[in-house]
Amino acid sequence: MKLLTNIGCLAGLEDKPAGCKRGDDMNCLNRLDDAWLLIDGQKFAAFGSMASLDSALNGCLGDAVIEERIDMKGGWVFPSFCDSHTHIIYAGNRAGEFLDKINGLSYEEIARRGGGILNSADLLNRTDEDELYRQAMERVGEMIAKGTGSLEIKSGYGLTLEGELKMLRVARRIKESVPMEVKTTFLGAHAVGRAYQGRQGDYVEMVCTEMIPEVGCQGLADFVDVFCDEGFFTPVETGKILEAAAIWGMKPKIHANELAVSGGVQVGVEMGAVSVDHLERTGEAEIEALKSSSTIPTMLPGASFFLGMPYGNAKGMISAGLPLALASDYNPGSSPSGDMRFVGSLGCIKMKLTPEQVVNATTINGAYAMGLGDVAGSITVGKKADFFVTEPIPNLAYFYYAYATPLISEIWLRGEKL
Ligand code: NIG
Ligand code: FE
Repeated sequence: MKLLTNIGCLAGLEDKPAGCKRGDDMNCLNRLDDAWLLIDGQKFAAFGSMASLDSALNGCLGDAVIEERIDMKGGWVFPSFCDSHTHIIYAGNRAGEFLDKINGLSYEEIARRGGGILNSADLLNRTDEDELYRQAMERVGEMIAKGTGSLEIKSGYGLTLEGELKMLRVARRIKESVPMEVKTTFLGAHAVGRAYQGRQGDYVEMVCTEMIPEVGCQGLADFVDVFCDEGFFTPVETGKILEAAAIWGMKPKIHANELAVSGGVQVGVEMGAVSVDHLERTGEAEIEALKSSSTIPTMLPGASFFLGMPYGNAKGMISAGLPLALASDYNPGSSPSGDMRFVGSLGCIKMKLTPEQVVNATTINGAYAMGLGDVAGSITVGKKADFFVTEPIPNLAYFYYAYATPLISEIWLRGEKL
């Protein structure tokens, strides 16, 4: 066992898995100052305050074999970030469109001209599987270094049966090669594939009758997603795709209300979505729909920042008693970053969330938003010992305030320091 002592603050504690945090509870971050933490193999075994360490070692921990005792010298310990929405498998980049945007084109205009997601699909379909894996693993390495310990990965840049399967195989290979929890999502309905331009109905049919059965049969996806938004897929098409995927046990996680009030939240809620994501444009009707559900509203402030879009009404959702998760949306078009601490800073600066709310939104609620609430997202005895350590910091707010200062000093996944 490993014993970490003199922890400045142990943040994100929970006695036992108790569901996602919602409403006023999102402002409560359980923490212990001047603490110790015991790790047994891959899992958290116990924690307490330094004042109680000697009595614990002589009492309840009397039988524990401590192989390593590490002085954390006042560094803070946080549960690893749980990034519940990413598109990290893509080829190359879209820096050219970045220039187009600087020169005045909008995300929608670029998509209408055949750029955007279709641009990434062309590149991906020309890139072989090993190279795709190599490029995606670079991004995973970067995310791990920035504190992420669990993540969801979507397909959606193939838009052909072979391209989508290739992406999901790469996701599976990533899952097998990193000490992280990885969930996979089939997003064949991210855009209409090139070969089906002008025949959206036929594409949706093909997604339902060819792609979904093959993905389901090969067990490649935990979830199904649809880009339900203006200029992409309608709520009726979305419902059809979700029904086809339900047969294979893929639960929905929906891209909704990014570009317009799309009806995506309502269709997601009706179909029992685990989460509905983006939500830059939502009003009372969406909040009402969410209130009667267990769907977790998830916002992606990195996309609002990068595309200059409005930020979602995070505070409104929380004051209505809802939970909120925040994720990176790491992708080449709208959010080329997987930095979850920066996501938290945007939550504070742009959405006026408190630091406590953003820790909960990026850890425990992110875990629940991808079905990992029982194993990740908090420092809880029995959960995976995934955490990061910071330099000693004066208070929690400082972590998000000094947003570009490299404060994360150690990464631990499954009980091992990387
Ligand atoms: O979540 N909005 C849809 N999908 C991605 C962006 C995809 C892209 O532009 O490549 C998103 O923002
Ligand atoms: Fe996305």
